[in-house]
Amino acid sequence: MKLITAVRGFKDILPSEVGKWRYIEDKAGEIFGNFGLHEIRIPVLEKTELFKRSIGEATDIVEKEMYTFLDRGDEYLTLRPEATASVIRAYLQHSMHAADHVVKLFTIGPMFRRERPQKGRFRQFHQINAELIGMDDPRADAELILILICFLKSVGMLDPRLEINSLGCSGCRPSFREKITGFLKDKKDGLCGDCLRRLETNPLRVFDCKQESCREIIAEVPQLLDYICPECRDHFGKVKEYLTALDISFAVNAKMVRGLDYYTRTAFEVTTGSEGAQNAVAGGGRYDGLIKELGGPDIPGAGFAIGVERLISLLPMKDEEFAAHPRLFIAALGDEAGRFAYTLCNRLRMQGIRAEMDYLGRSLKSQMKRSNKLNSSHTLILGEREMLEKKAELRDMKTGTQETLSLDNINNIVKRMNIEHPTSNIEC
Ligand code: HAM
Repeated sequence: MKLITAVRGFKDILPSEVGKWRYIEDKAGEIFGNFGLHEIRIPVLEKTELFKRSIGEATDIVEKEMYTFLDRGDEYLTLRPEATASVIRAYLQHSMHAADHVVKLFTIGPMFRRERPQKGRFRQFHQINAELIGMDDPRADAELILILICFLKSVGMLDPRLEINSLGCSGCRPSFREKITGFLKDKKDGLCGDCLRRLETNPLRVFDCKQESCREIIAEVPQLLDYICPECRDHFGKVKEYLTALDISFAVNAKMVRGLDYYTRTAFEVTTGSEGAQNAVAGGGRYDGLIKELGGPDIPGAGFAIGVERLISLLPMKDEEFAAHPRLFIAALGDEAGRFAYTLCNRLRMQGIRAEMDYLGRSLKSQMKRSNKLNSSHTLILGEREMLEKKAELRDMKTGTQETLSLDNINNIVKRMNIEHPTSNIEC
């Protein structure tokens, strides 16, 4: 019968890879915690309206990439394409703003976008997402970027390259849009079909077009930074000052507009300096109008998301560094030794020692091979003679040295395995 495989663009994270994932997720929890962020866990499914209202109807994500379906209850639901909208929905639904004027949250999990699968682009991918809610001070923007860079460096990203821009505010952006629209209308003949449509719905999206003819026009397009209001200019200037004070290097990219409509003022992306990888590993920015847009009070916010698959692909770490191996393999010969080994193996596990054995009743040679394959640090050899004498041979698999241990008390074995702090000690 034909095998059923995973959906295109959806990937399994295999046992050999999970160690790296856990390491990265734990590091995020640790570093974000130092900066006062608390974890929130939110559903993967939301009402479609949430994303339409926050990300924007005229964005690629909402227009083309969402997994949306009509639920049996006649309601349109969507697998979340990003986390910010859901975090803000939860923030408002649980009146977090009433409990504290500043709320700092992070969340980790899968997102879903029906993009064309290719290197670094999946249909289910994972994000580590941080949001600082309640602060419009430029120090919050710089702090947010510091959290991101600190985290990326802490997991071993060697060359995070930060680009920043200011997208202006609801006051100054409309006049800029008009300027852009006027400029692009004059160059209409050179624009692709998508951009002609964007010109009507969302002219800033033209900046993201990858078509060669459009790129030539975009190269000459007016710069957003030349049109932002004095307040936005001052805010952006201070963000740059604080970044410098925090020793974070950056480049201003006046053409970076980001693919979601909720951004205001500071926007940023991190790419790698390494060759061949142009995709952003992380992106974010300020969204001062979003909370109000979603029906809440006028509260500012800013955040970022890191693409975990992209991050992992850039890190020089190997699966093997994170692999867990048995501390002890028990090789038993004969029925009596087999019975003893079975209880011993499970008792050791309950005392926090990763122990293994097999149930195939094979020769000592085969069991030693298995111990080697599992990369056990030690093997305990239990034969008929050992059982009579109530002792066992303990072999160090690295050095090959062997010593004799008494079986009267399994604590001897626990001690010998140098477990000072067993991970668990289960009584049952
Ligand atoms: P975004 O730029 O759409 O921002 O996504 C952030 C990161 O998610 C990207 O830089 C990339 O690493 C990863 N990513 C996005 N799409 C894919 C994909 N198809 N396959 C693999 N990785 C992908 C946001 O999602 C905003 N919510 C970030 C934010 C949080 N802004 C404020 N708060």
